[in-house]
Amino acid sequence: MMHSFITLSFVSSLCSTLSVFALRIPFDVHIQTPASNPTTHFPRQSSSNGIVPVGNTQNVFYYTNITLGGQNISVMLDTGSSDLWVAGQVSGATDTGSSLKLSYAVGTAAGDIYTAPFEFAGQSVSDQAFLLVTNVSSFSTNIHSEGYDGLIGLGPNTGSSIYKKLDGNSGNNPINRIFQQTSSSSNDYITMMLSRKGDPGSNITGQFTIGEVVSGFENVTSMPQLSIEKVYKVTDVDQHWQIVTDKNNGIIGPDGQPIKYSSIAPKAPDGTIVGVLDSGFTLPQVPRTVSDAIYGRVQGAEWSASSEAWLVPCGQLINVTFNFGGVSYPIHPLDVSSSDFGVTFSNGNPACLGTFQPVTSAFSLLGEYDMILGMAFLRNTYTLINYGNFITGGSNSNNPYVQLLPLTNIESAVNDFIQVRLNGQNTINSPQYALLPASQQQHSPESASEKKQAYEELVLSRWPYILAGGMVFLILLISYCIWRCCCRRKRMAKKAAKKAAQQKGGAASAGGFMSGPYAQLHDSQSTASLVMQPMRGSTVKLEEDYGGKDAFARSR
Ligand SMILES: *[C@@H]1O[C@H](CO)[C@@H](O)[C@H](O)[C@H]1NC(C)=O
Ligand SMILES: *[C@@H]1O[C@H](CO)[C@@H](O)[C@H](O)[C@H]1NC(C)=O
Ligand SMILES: *[C@@H]1O[C@H](CO)[C@@H](O)[C@H](O)[C@H]1NC(C)=O
Ligand SMILES: *[C@@H]1O[C@H](CO)[C@@H](O)[C@H](O)[C@H]1NC(C)=O
Ligand SMILES: *[C@@H]1O[C@H](CO)[C@@H](O)[C@H](O)[C@H]1NC(C)=O
Ligand SMILES: *[C@@H]1O[C@H](CO)[C@@H](O)[C@H](O)[C@H]1NC(C)=O
Repeated sequence: MMHSFITLSFVSSLCSTLSVFALRIPFDVHIQTPASNPTTHFPRQSSSNGIVPVGNTQNVFYYTNITLGGQNISVMLDTGSSDLWVAGQVSGATDTGSSLKLSYAVGTAAGDIYTAPFEFAGQSVSDQAFLLVTNVSSFSTNIHSEGYDGLIGLGPNTGSSIYKKLDGNSGNNPINRIFQQTSSSSNDYITMMLSRKGDPGSNITGQFTIGEVVSGFENVTSMPQLSIEKVYKVTDVDQHWQIVTDKNNGIIGPDGQPIKYSSIAPKAPDGTIVGVLDSGFTLPQVPRTVSDAIYGRVQGAEWSASSEAWLVPCGQLINVTFNFGGVSYPIHPLDVSSSDFGVTFSNGNPACLGTFQPVTSAFSLLGEYDMILGMAFLRNTYTLINYGNFITGGSNSNNPYVQLLPLTNIESAVNDFIQVRLNGQNTINSPQYALLPASQQQHSPESASEKKQAYEELVLSRWPYILAGGMVFLILLISYCIWRCCCRRKRMAKKAAKKAAQQKGGAASAGGFMSGPYAQLHDSQSTASLVMQPMRGSTVKLEEDYGGKDAFARSR
């Protein structure tokens, strides 16, 4: 009984922390194009039903159409969250009477949960649950002018707040509902391909599919199946599409050498790095040492405290390659530094933004991942996500996995870069663009709160071990107490027997014997909560840090 009490209260305090982790942290820099005139681009409508085009606003937002209550609605594609919400009105929708508030770094989506007929990429659900947001005034961007009026979370169903809120399977998220109702489990996957604006050499069009593959890219199904790194069962609300890099050469830096970094995830094999595939992040979030290794040796690189990112000369070509399952995924140099944000050096000269940004607010305190591979990464891969046994109420018993087909050919990408950034003049190897020696690498400043986070992570990510250790301690303590009490009881019983023998009447003292052990157990319980104290203590602080300060400050 006591065990379950402690476990439950521990888990519930953990879960309240996790809802804070659900915050989405976007880039916090301004888009060059005026918001009133978004240059949106829609590829041609595919003839196949299961394939829908993906729109792109300035390489910063990717979205597609769904039909809800018979209405076309453009929603942002987000593999990093798990709920569907739309703003405005949906005709014929049914109010479930439950209300909900979802927090994102750009603002809060709050309203009632409704159900309505839903269609998406040739699939339909008769009564899909979604959050109808009536007030988006808290959003820092005008989402409609950015090309979308809602968001579809494509993450695992366990992360869905609507699923948590509604009983049974009625709250399952859209992709889960679709896969639940298909008879064959062999096609329980989605695929996604993102276009790159401002790249004359790219003929990649944005496409999203359910249960089929874009023609010409069938090879994605023969790529290595990268298994999803699972988080602990009690924290499955925080499960993402996360994969581990190859050992000791997960990321190849601009000098052609592997970037040295040791994962914070206790479960990750030595030498690997855990990355979450998240189309909701414009800028990939990487450990600070990785970001510094990518940009710190560039001549004239400058750390921007306001953008919390590196600034580099736009003509600087920077090579970065990721390795997964023995396959190399080169990142297009136009994705490693971006001219889309209109940033300038401190002297006022134009700069390009280093897109691989040090992870701060989105840092995983439970040590579940090291980096978040956002859009600037995902443009370089045709991404297939097989949901497997992550489908709630489904019959698929296979483990979920990801397959990535490389889309960037580095030779033609270098050529694109020369056309776009260097006016066609191949000066990429001129002395001004040579990397500084490793000894002269610049490092970006680590804030006090990051140091604290790193320390907290060390403790929090090891909670199963600490919990196990605490349990062992507790059991030892209880055993000791019982032993002590028994001894005392025996001693006292002997005494009492003596007394009784002497005084002829000691029956009432039996209750006194019984109270002994319980008093001891009570003591040991307070010892147990002391063991848990450090976690609870930091939980409270975390809530303040994330909910109140960091995340929203960044999106201002
Ligand atoms: C969504 O549908 C509208 C028509 O209702 C269309 O104009 C728009 O191009 C579509 N968006 C995408 C991304 O296909
Ligand atoms: C939704 O948009 C598609 C094109 O993207 C169009 O074919 C369809 O007719 C539209 N449906 C409605 C209800 O507007
Ligand atoms: C919308 O929400 C904001 C706060 O986020 C509030 O100030 C405003 O009054 C709300 N508007 C309506 C119409 O409810
Ligand atoms: C895209 O362009 C590459 C060359 O840049 C070419 O090899 C490939 O066939 C093209 N693919 C399509 C689908 O047009
Ligand atoms: C597809 O993959 C096979 C080997 O897996 C390879 O031989 C073939 O060239 C690939 N095709 C394309 C178009 O990439
Ligand atoms: C980047 O990689 C390409 C292809 O391997 C190579 O041609 C180019 O010289 C490299 N650039 C730098 C600056 O290392």
